[in-house]
Amino acid sequence: MNIEEKRILVTGVAGFIGSNLTDRLLNLGANVIGVDNLFNGRLENLEEALNYKHFQFHKGDIRDLNFLLDIFKDIDIIFHEAAFTSVPQSIKMPESCNDVNINGTLNLLNAARKRDVKKIIFASSSSIYGDTPTLPKIESMPRIPISPYGVTKLTCESYMQVFHQVYGLNTISLRYFNVFGPRQQDSPYSGVIAIWLGQIIKNKNLIIFGDGNQSRDFTYIKDVVQANILAAENKISGEILNIAAGSPIKLLDLAKLMLKLTNKEDLGINFDLPRPGDIIHSFADISKAKEVLKFQPKYTQELGLRDYFEWYCKKYGINLKIK
Ligand code: UD1
Repeated sequence: MNIEEKRILVTGVAGFIGSNLTDRLLNLGANVIGVDNLFNGRLENLEEALNYKHFQFHKGDIRDLNFLLDIFKDIDIIFHEAAFTSVPQSIKMPESCNDVNINGTLNLLNAARKRDVKKIIFASSSSIYGDTPTLPKIESMPRIPISPYGVTKLTCESYMQVFHQVYGLNTISLRYFNVFGPRQQDSPYSGVIAIWLGQIIKNKNLIIFGDGNQSRDFTYIKDVVQANILAAENKISGEILNIAAGSPIKLLDLAKLMLKLTNKEDLGINFDLPRPGDIIHSFADISKAKEVLKFQPKYTQELGLRDYFEWYCKKYGINLKIK
């Protein structure tokens, strides 16, 4: 399926991943209908998208079936990015996480079935693997989530597969590994790179939860966008694929790298208690995505950080000398 001129629906369109994906889809010539309840998403993220005449924005909630049925007209593909995204917040509010992620996704699947949508690409997460010791994480291994958030993403993956098997809907789950880049918010419940960049700009020390030996396979947003477009164009269905850079970095090394790249090595690193529900090591085997989708990550963590910092400085008029 070629996505040019397709009618595409993006949930979570005003969020970090949804808005980056939407800009690329519009650029490729797709018609995009965007949905967001603006709980975490921000209209500011749609500044570029709103310049396109083949973009429509609808404020509403994926848990509202009538709202979805009203706007689902001749949709070819749905990219489902709307979610409750924070692991620590899911520990504080498991019911809300369950409601948004599981009930919202089931609602979306039901609306898609009723309106004969052809394909859904779901934003899943590496958190479904939990802390099983085997590394790298491969799609076929046991999935034992250790946070309510992880449980919701795993349940949604199962729903994607069941809707494929039972109702013939074309579904794909992409297991993202720690996505970072432009428009990720600097809020206490956001990803660590956005939080640390905020600290660097404010000349504040970075805080590491735990000893800093935990590792993540940080993946640049442009590679995640690439993976989604490849998945949309591919005929596979009912599949689950890891999407990552395919190289882990320890949190302590990431902190040092961010301070070095921004010329802020004078700032310190403070250590705090480990976060409950935190996975220790997360590192992806991406051979399936490479083989099936011809996915090839183009950004190492350092390249991604540079691109992100440059975007940030330009956008907010900040004078950081990137090394
Ligand atoms: C992140 C995503 C989640 C996604 C998952 C896998 C966010 C908010 N969470 O979860 O949606 O499904 O990746 O793709 O984007 N840390 C610090 N100091 C800080 C903040 C965090 O040391 O100030 C540590 C955490 O304890 C953790 C690591 O950084 O060990 C990563 O945390 P975080 O960026 O919140 O991501 P995940 O919990 O891995």
